[in-house]
Amino acid sequence: MFFENHITPNVNLQNADVFSALPTLQNDFFDVCIVDPPYGASTTKNWSYDENKKLQGFGGDWKLTSEMWDLLSQNDSFQQTYNWLKELKRVIKPTGSIWIHSTYHNAGFVNVCCQLIGLEIINEVVWYKRNSFPNLSGRRLTASHETILWVHKGDAKHRNYVFNYEASKEYSLPCDLLKERGKQMRTVWDIPNNKSKEEMQFGSHPTQKPIRIAERILTLCGVKGGNLLVPFVGSGTEMVAGLQFGMNVYGFELEEDYYKLAKKRIDAVANNPQTSLF
Ligand SMILES: C[S@@+](CC[C@H](N)C(=O)[O-])C[C@H]1O[C@@H](n2cnc3c(N)ncnc32)[C@H](O)[C@@H]1O
Repeated sequence: MFFENHITPNVNLQNADVFSALPTLQNDFFDVCIVDPPYGASTTKNWSYDENKKLQGFGGDWKLTSEMWDLLSQNDSFQQTYNWLKELKRVIKPTGSIWIHSTYHNAGFVNVCCQLIGLEIINEVVWYKRNSFPNLSGRRLTASHETILWVHKGDAKHRNYVFNYEASKEYSLPCDLLKERGKQMRTVWDIPNNKSKEEMQFGSHPTQKPIRIAERILTLCGVKGGNLLVPFVGSGTEMVAGLQFGMNVYGFELEEDYYKLAKKRIDAVANNPQTSLF
């Protein structure tokens, strides 16, 4: 096994299993946690799309995700979701909040586990992907959204989580046709699922998120100088966004190759905070 750490004054990136790493963290330490877990969406079927072809209107070449780390049984998916959410509740501050990405494969588990554990749901955001992956079988609709739950560990009497309301109103993104500057932000975010050359410059990850999502989350509840936790690092997108926002970033990645990719992206920003990767 490879296990390595990359630790600087504002970065703590570990090539580690989240289930052994989370228990080492102290209580009530993090201001924000962004979770992009395995969805259990991988298929062992060998579907692929001819990469030489372009699909009109879908903006590029596509291939299906089939990753070992994403092949979870239903029982494992539920049990693991419960276990990491319980730990996240322990380490998040009462003023902090947790954002959890999901699709229909795991969204039900995430929602039920939050309710079982006592994490109050603040909002359910729909990330609308207008250039989403086409349905290859022609047997169902093209899935064009993901769900992001925003939760905190208080209750109706203790809603102390940070919400940068004014910043949320001021926020706008040229590609988001649903958000006007000066208007309240809605729960549907129109963010095309493509990454810039800069975001991909050190390599690719099969489920890399566009950095604009993490950037928006931090606009809503980021704390300058505060602590951001990213339990499933992947290529490091959320940690990069956290550094650029001015937070101390902590994250775990099991796979050596993705750990190395994330380290490169993080180093590029840490060595030059003005570098824009989006
Ligand atoms: C959905 S991806 C995250 C992608 C990330 N948001 C990005 O933009 O690159 C989930 C990642 O979690 C990692 N992972 C899966 N199980 C893990 C575990 N038990 N501990 C640490 N990392 C794990 C996988 O290797 C994968 O890279």
